[in-house]
Amino acid sequence: MDAAISTAVSGAAPVTDAPPYMSVQRVQKIYETAGGAVEAVSLADFTVTSGEFVAVLGPSGCGKSTLMMMIGGLEPTSAGRIRVDGAEITGPRADFGYIFQDATLLPWKSVLDNVLFPIKLEHGRTRDHLERARELLELVGLWDFRDKRPRQLSGGMRQRVAICRGLINDPKLLLMDEPFSALDAISRDDMNAALADLWDRYHKTAIFITHSIREAVYLADRVLVMSRRPSVISHDVRIPFQRPRRMAMQETAEFNEICGFLRRKIEEGYQRA
Ligand SMILES: Nc1ncnc2c1ncn2[C@@H]1O[C@H](COP(=O)(O)OP(=O)(O)O)[C@@H](O)[C@H]1O
Ligand SMILES: [Mg+2]
Repeated sequence: MDAAISTAVSGAAPVTDAPPYMSVQRVQKIYETAGGAVEAVSLADFTVTSGEFVAVLGPSGCGKSTLMMMIGGLEPTSAGRIRVDGAEITGPRADFGYIFQDATLLPWKSVLDNVLFPIKLEHGRTRDHLERARELLELVGLWDFRDKRPRQLSGGMRQRVAICRGLINDPKLLLMDEPFSALDAISRDDMNAALADLWDRYHKTAIFITHSIREAVYLADRVLVMSRRPSVISHDVRIPFQRPRRMAMQETAEFNEICGFLRRKIEEGYQRA
């Protein structure tokens, strides 16, 4: 069974002459700490096509956030290099969207001003982006809450605001690090559906870190599995489902087979370590 799924879903990147949109080339990260060196990522080596939604799945502490921060230019690599759209990553980029686990909204600002904050920082004025903010907030059902402060919202609502903020500058690349981990299961399903909808509409290239296998399979075109440290990308699995994705898809035998396949690969990664 595994062999069949593997052949069906873990094909190599599509054959094309175009250079990849993003390339992570033999990247390693070692943190030097008072207690010694920590090898957070041993070897990451993969490419991403423009418009692809790639989920990165792996156990806690395996270096997922570190990989994400290197891609986003928030941490330097110790070896190897990362290129996006032809340019080497050397620092944070205004044309990327960043969405992290805790929706770090500014508590004294309204929902609308939080969404517009990256624009305010970059351009000083937000007038030209009001219409886009409205469109995004309407899509996630929060336009009526635009004047509320973050503390007046539930965790799921705050996270939806953070997603709108991550998309307000129409980013070329959307980087998400476990954006829904702090949410309960029902809000998480809602958020997954909201993200899938946004995806169908805007179709960004995205890297999505998660430790939820179902979330990864539901959202992604491809799932990269990271092993436990010393971590490498151990599997690159293509998800064959069409878009738009529907929640009901999670009930199908094929969906559950792929989840089971990934679960076994993650367990193998544990045993190897
Ligand atoms: N700034 C840092 N300094 C030192 N060690 C770190 C730092 N950030 C993360 N680590 C260590 O690197 C390893 C990978 O961490 P992380 O990338 O956060 O993993 P994950 O996101 O998969 O849980 C862990 O052992 C963690 O303790
Ligand atoms: Mg992390």
